[in-house]
Amino acid sequence: TPELAHDLKASVRTIPDYPKPGIMFRDITTLLGDPRAFRRAVDELVHPWAGSKIDKVAGIEARGFIIGGAIAHQVSSGFVPIRKKGKLPHACVSMSYALEYGTDIIEMHVDAIAPGERVILVDDLIATGGTAEGAIKLLRQTGAEVVAACFIIDLPDLGGAAKLRGMGVPVRTLMEFG
Ligand code: PRP
Ligand code: HPA
Repeated sequence: TPELAHDLKASVRTIPDYPKPGIMFRDITTLLGDPRAFRRAVDELVHPWAGSKIDKVAGIEARGFIIGGAIAHQVSSGFVPIRKKGKLPHACVSMSYALEYGTDIIEMHVDAIAPGERVILVDDLIATGGTAEGAIKLLRQTGAEVVAACFIIDLPDLGGAAKLRGMGVPVRTLMEFG
């Protein structure tokens, strides 16, 4: 219902000027700390895939681990961490991705996903989509089928969700901030 959706959005805290002046930081720790909001966010994100077979949930460091772990449990799938470079202990596949200024590298274990496996990508928030685009390229490089990408928060003005849909990935988000 719209009422509950409003409660969910109200559970996100906004911190002005973090981490830099002019940035309105959408802080999900307040949503995570609210038992009903956390459960509802997880349930709502995976609702379209209830009953369909998902092999793996891939979560993006760091907040994507929290949401992604809960979603993996919910759909009885495995969980795969996608991390900033140098953090994973075994052999990795790597992908460069665009930041606001410059680039960085994300990695995933080379044997984390078998070709043809059905994967849902999860993070807390999509802004420019640079991070998620890099993660999708990484997943597809291993032969994964990226069934969907799920985020609690969309910042639509930054175009990330549109970019992912342009790559052929269905995108599910629960709320927008302008
Ligand atoms: C934030 C957020 C996403 C990414 C979204 O992570 O959690 O992962 O930025 O931005 P984009 O769509 O423009 O790529 P952050 O860089 O703060 O890393 P952290 O979770 O490790 O703190
Ligand atoms: N919150 C969390 N991560 C982010 C944000 C934000 O507001 N903007 C870009 N990445």
